[in-house]
Amino acid sequence: MKKIDSFSEYKNEYKKSLDNPELFWAEKASTFQWRSKWNKVLNWDFESPIIEWFIGGKLNITENCLDRHLKSNGDKVAILWEPNDPNDSSVKITYSELHKKVCEFANVLLNHGAKKGDRICLYMPMIPELTIATLACARIGAIHSVVFAGFSAKSLADRINDSSCNILITTDGSYRGNKQICLKEIADQALVFCKTIESCIVFKRTGEEISMKSDRDFWWHDEVLKVSDFLTATEMDSEDPLFILYTSGSTGKPKGVQHNCGGYMVYAEYSFRNVFQYNENDIYWCTADIGWITGHTYIVYGPLLSGSTSVMFEGVPTFPDPGRFWEICEKYRVNIFYTAPTAIRALQAYGTSYPKKYNLSSLKTLGSVGEPINEEAWHWYNKNIGNENCSIVDTWWQTETGGILISPLSHITKTKPTYATLPLPGIQPCLVDENGDEISGNGVEGNLCIKFPWPSMIRTIYGDHKRCKNVYFSIYPGKYFTGDGCKRDNDGFYRITGRVDDVINVSGHRMGTAEVENGINEHPLVIESAVVGYPHKIKGQGIYAYIILEKNSTSVDELRMQILETVVKEIGSIAKPDKIQFVTGLPKTRSGKIMRRILRKIAEGETSNLGDTSTLLDPLVIDQIIKNST
Ligand code: PRX
Repeated sequence: MKKIDSFSEYKNEYKKSLDNPELFWAEKASTFQWRSKWNKVLNWDFESPIIEWFIGGKLNITENCLDRHLKSNGDKVAILWEPNDPNDSSVKITYSELHKKVCEFANVLLNHGAKKGDRICLYMPMIPELTIATLACARIGAIHSVVFAGFSAKSLADRINDSSCNILITTDGSYRGNKQICLKEIADQALVFCKTIESCIVFKRTGEEISMKSDRDFWWHDEVLKVSDFLTATEMDSEDPLFILYTSGSTGKPKGVQHNCGGYMVYAEYSFRNVFQYNENDIYWCTADIGWITGHTYIVYGPLLSGSTSVMFEGVPTFPDPGRFWEICEKYRVNIFYTAPTAIRALQAYGTSYPKKYNLSSLKTLGSVGEPINEEAWHWYNKNIGNENCSIVDTWWQTETGGILISPLSHITKTKPTYATLPLPGIQPCLVDENGDEISGNGVEGNLCIKFPWPSMIRTIYGDHKRCKNVYFSIYPGKYFTGDGCKRDNDGFYRITGRVDDVINVSGHRMGTAEVENGINEHPLVIESAVVGYPHKIKGQGIYAYIILEKNSTSVDELRMQILETVVKEIGSIAKPDKIQFVTGLPKTRSGKIMRRILRKIAEGETSNLGDTSTLLDPLVIDQIIKNST
């Protein structure tokens, strides 16, 4: 696929995508390997919603990620795997080796009865086998559901049950920094509640002692010995589901966002090549985890579709010391580096001595994703990592969008700290006011919507199409609503200001405040809780929980600990509140709704200017909360 190579070409392409979106995307799609071509490019209606791309087209995404590179690039390295411990051996996997390993494991899945359309859950650390298992699912047309390995047994069970997965793939354990986590034990706790799982396939990573249930649990290394390393890919329809990935919303349980094969494939490669301006011999590294959408699109699919060489890292940025990222950049001569603002801020706190120790001159492009990047972190990244000659691409997108929608194109679009800048060709953003009217012109602010479909957009919420319609397409009829607030400056550049709903973004992890509240409320002495986000120096947003305890609850410090443990058990340690304030009441309207706006202000340290409090049932509650705020 040819990439855009100048700003005037970007403008040209953007115009073409507006004038004739179908022709525009048909041209991009035609660079892939289809078993049979589509008969219609697009069918859409944001009311139902129905979104279909490349209708009638037949393909398998793994043929495009692997098989099509074999002839000319079979010996090219696909994955450069760097283990958690720098003293352990790294691993190189070429395209032809990856092809074999994917086919082999796909055969294992078939041996375990997996069929096209089945849901398969992956609960694994960042090891090459996670990529292999993901692609093996896609090879046989099974729908993968990757669950981030930091989630608790309860969260894992909820996700397995929501989509009735019949196979779970996991490991004995995992390494993260100086910690060793027994993933199989967590999986076992989850599986007690999962009736649909028939096989659990376990890759040996740590070699620790684990229990294996006969007839359910199987070792990866035993199973691959029983199969061949070749398998013709299953033919998929362009609109057959490729994967489900759970993400949080303002209410209810996490939603299983569904992406389908054809459109996702086209947009993953298109956005990867253009945003990062990927060149044939570049070394690319995205530090995300495959458990999140960034890992799906920009560790697995985008880079492999483009035939690139990527670094995959098992560990954490601060182990064995805070120079680890930069050491890896030097070791592999990384050209394109993609990380999250929270990681930049965390490393910034250790000063410049670590990056100074390493030769970072190979870097050309620095990416940022997951949350707004603050100006200070942007400049630090630019100066100390990019040596002021890299292009910083602040990429805005979401689990639901499947790929980057608003971002500079590296070294092409003028960058501006804290701005995601301009939409990619094919993307039609708009800002709307509270009445849902579109705000025209520049120098304006509103809620960010997208008014025309793009190939990798969400198709549905697995098992709940009505929820998909209500959450994304009903608030501003005729438009996809992102949940983000946004400014458009006088140059027409977009700056994402953060969520306008009850979703918080903690260290780039998206969480529903209701989800954290539900976790807290599981503690038997908690009567009610309200959770809000507040500005946090490293995490972007921290979690502030206001909690009402049962009367006469004593030993508040002990309770604080217990509540934290409850949240870790219910969700995972990423959802642990940073601050807990025990209160005797919460500010509620007469209809019983908690006024989070007020709680947010108090959490931010604001004690006056709380806005209109006249609708509160008991305004005195606020004075109490302010008096005791932390
Ligand atoms: O609020 C926006 C924020 O992350 C949300 C999406 O989270 P998730 O689905 O987990 O996907 C994260 C990785 C794509 C968005 O609604 N967000 C993401 N990227 C940016 C951002 N906020 C500001 N600037 C960004 N570059």
